[in-house]
Amino acid sequence: MQFHVTSGAPSALRAGALVVPVFADGRLDGAAEAADSELGGAIADVLASGEISGKIGEFALVHAATHAVKRVLVVGLGAREKFEVASLGAYAGAAVRYLGKRNVTSLAIALPLEAQGAAQAAASFLIEGALGATIDGTTYRTEPEKPILIDEITLVATAGAHDFDRAALEAGIERGRIIGEAVNFARILALTPANDMTPKHLEAAAADIAKATGLQFHALDEAAMLEKQMGSILGVSRGSDEEARMIVLEYTGDPSSTEKLALVGKGLTFDSGGISIKPAQDMHEMKYDMCGGAGVLGAMSAIGQLKPKVNVIGIVPASENLPGPRAMKPGDILRAMNGKTIEVINTDAEGRLILADALCYARELGATKIVDAATLTGAMVVALGHSATGTISNDDAFRDRFIDVAKSTTEKYWPLPLYDEFSTTVKSEIADLRNSAGRAAGSLTAAAFLRAFVADVPWIHLDIAGTAYTESETASLAKGPTGYPVRAFVAFAEDLAAHAAHATNGATAATPVAV
Ligand code: BES
Ligand code: MN
Ligand code: ZN
Repeated sequence: MQFHVTSGAPSALRAGALVVPVFADGRLDGAAEAADSELGGAIADVLASGEISGKIGEFALVHAATHAVKRVLVVGLGAREKFEVASLGAYAGAAVRYLGKRNVTSLAIALPLEAQGAAQAAASFLIEGALGATIDGTTYRTEPEKPILIDEITLVATAGAHDFDRAALEAGIERGRIIGEAVNFARILALTPANDMTPKHLEAAAADIAKATGLQFHALDEAAMLEKQMGSILGVSRGSDEEARMIVLEYTGDPSSTEKLALVGKGLTFDSGGISIKPAQDMHEMKYDMCGGAGVLGAMSAIGQLKPKVNVIGIVPASENLPGPRAMKPGDILRAMNGKTIEVINTDAEGRLILADALCYARELGATKIVDAATLTGAMVVALGHSATGTISNDDAFRDRFIDVAKSTTEKYWPLPLYDEFSTTVKSEIADLRNSAGRAAGSLTAAAFLRAFVADVPWIHLDIAGTAYTESETASLAKGPTGYPVRAFVAFAEDLAAHAAHATNGATAATPVAV
């Protein structure tokens, strides 16, 4: 897709449609006002008629046969005083989904004047949202849904007295493109059904990213994992004919530093539950059990292009969890890479088993900070629904910094406690740990299990079970994978880079600052 910026009048635009915002107060300004007067008050008429009131998510199409743009889509942005630039993703996305399926190939999208103070973020959110809207999950149909045909978007920054900062808009477009494409990359991996998305497919996707962005790549096959004594992931993989992989992408943005952020993502390409098999209802959704891994690959691809001054390693333990004849059984005891023994109470608690070895491997590869993301527990969906990602850590200040940084994105994270007593709960009578400790605080005991594999490295666990995919579509996004946690991962890596730079400049070091 091609992106441009213009501050010209709507009548000078060459686009299949013009998209303009309207707030709940109904007052037209900027490009909306200019277009309205060029159309002889047609937009104001639509507002006056009550067809649209400016509420968020509303839109109305105004045909303008005599005007250069031929049609204007008026999109509601809600209360003017509550406007946030983050809402521009949904604004642009709704327009792309609606017009893109109606033979429109190019859009001019007006920025509201309210976005002027944050031009870069505004452009970035807008482009990210526009790209997100281009994907749906129907590519396997012999006759897929009508594809989105839009291949050109022009940002209309008509400002009046004070112009939008053009350089900031251009920078925002580039950033939005990189993040939007990375998010879509992760979503497409997740959408791909498990018969076409095995651990080897994930490995190939990572190799492709490495090639395209210049990251370093390696992957351990099962023989290499056996050599490293990764008995925990190998236990999970036993029930499947598909070999497991430990996939690694590395970005060295600050060679002079020994600091290294590890992003670890659960890449369970299909979770049947294993011998402790899941009910058939909704089991097909367990093709999404690799969303954390897909998110790590997407984030690494964006980081490789944005090039923050920080070292980041992405690790994806990838496996299937099936009840084959050699499958691990309840009661089996596995030995993880760090020597800890694990009693398998429930073979369906496999995410923590593959993460155990991945977290050990992160430390072997020099991680000084770790953030993992996993569709780890059904209990998380019960706790926070599909609204926020439970965020659990062995370091509260580190966790709070992550949550603050993620506020600069459209993703939501919420803190949950990691009490020491949960570590007692996950102890086994006959091994060091047990992989399931009953229903009470299921997401938190899962985190306590993972804690045993990070030693004293500052670590954050993101349980994305409720946020990685949705069952309902919105005006701007198809149902299915959401791209969590790509945006927060990228923002966090950039924040670490920014603060490392401050520290070497002699400014107050190591003070977490909210963005
Ligand atoms: N992948 C599932 C968690 C999950 C469930 C994610 C529903 C998204 C929606 C995970 O491997 C799992 O099965 N967890 C078990 C753990 C239990 C056996 C301790 C669960 O949550 O029931
Ligand atoms: Mn499971
Ligand atoms: Zn799982």
